[in-house]
Amino acid sequence: MKKHIAVLPGDGIGPEIIQEAIKVLDKVANVYSHEFKYTYADMGAIAIDKTGNPLPKDTLKISLASDAVLFGAIGDPKYDNDPNAKVRPEQGLLAIRKALGLFCNVRPVKTFDSLLHQSPLKEDRVKGTDFVMYRELTGGIYFGEKKLSEDKNTASDLCQYTRTEIERIAHKAFAAARKRRNVLTLVDKANVLESSRLWRRVVTELHKAEYDDVELHFLFVDNAAMQMILAPNQFDVMLTSNLFGDIISDEGSVIGGSIGLLPSSSIGEKHALFEPIHGSFPQGAGKGIANPIAMILSAAMMLTHFDLDKEAKAITKAVDLALEKHMCTADVFPESTLNTSDVGDFIANNIA
Ligand code: IPM
Ligand code: MN
Repeated sequence: MKKHIAVLPGDGIGPEIIQEAIKVLDKVANVYSHEFKYTYADMGAIAIDKTGNPLPKDTLKISLASDAVLFGAIGDPKYDNDPNAKVRPEQGLLAIRKALGLFCNVRPVKTFDSLLHQSPLKEDRVKGTDFVMYRELTGGIYFGEKKLSEDKNTASDLCQYTRTEIERIAHKAFAAARKRRNVLTLVDKANVLESSRLWRRVVTELHKAEYDDVELHFLFVDNAAMQMILAPNQFDVMLTSNLFGDIISDEGSVIGGSIGLLPSSSIGEKHALFEPIHGSFPQGAGKGIANPIAMILSAAMMLTHFDLDKEAKAITKAVDLALEKHMCTADVFPESTLNTSDVGDFIANNIA
């Protein structure tokens, strides 16, 4: 199989971890006789530095022409504490999501048995946790009309959803539940927000019409945040809007003990992008200490998206082995002296 992959390393540790994902993909291509062609492009703070634009035209063109986008991380502290900054690195990510129509963000939250002791929660609570979050990614308050009054003392962000926007991601979440343990939980704030009441209505109708074999639950987002701490292993598929998904997926990401292990995909009708859940970790950039596993698992998700299931499995197996043998960076195994590239080497060398 031949695939064109747009590679956007981005900021901070992005370039270091993406190099390891490419190393592993090259090994997969070699073992399974595929051809992956990479085209590199800039996005984020690095793109602002070079062109003034966090998503340069060329980067968008390359991404639109690719079979998939592999993306590292975005963000630079020099923009974080400046509320007056005109351009921000994050705008690049939001713009590419919108331009590629990536409405469905999939964030798996999985615990690894060998790492349970690392979880901030008690082991018996996290054991067996394996759920996946379906976060709407191109609508809601992120993209609604933004207003700032002339005197700059009043501001608002509109949270708007349409039936179509809800239906298309709900289809994907129901389908995912069917392939898993057949339980879907819609997370919303329907006791307060009209947009959440629309989500409930649309999801309930769809359930009745096409997915009544799936067990459907509803949870207010404040309660969901609590339940994820009390008993994270109760969930299978969670479905939610853009902002709620942003917040509770960060909460979910640390349950397993390391945010450095979790990948994600963002899927649209025509395009797809794969990136780790963690950020650009600027304090760690250039030191070789970044954990490349979330990035490598994002590459595995990309292979699954190409229907290369065997190949994706080969990566996840090699990652499991790395964790079993403590072949990972110090964020996961504090006694470890391995660097980013050592971990990538071990995983690439164990692609069977
Ligand atoms: C995420 C990030 C982004 C978001 C930022 C960088 C715009 O936090 O992917 O979760 O808020 O969606
Ligand atoms: Mn986030």
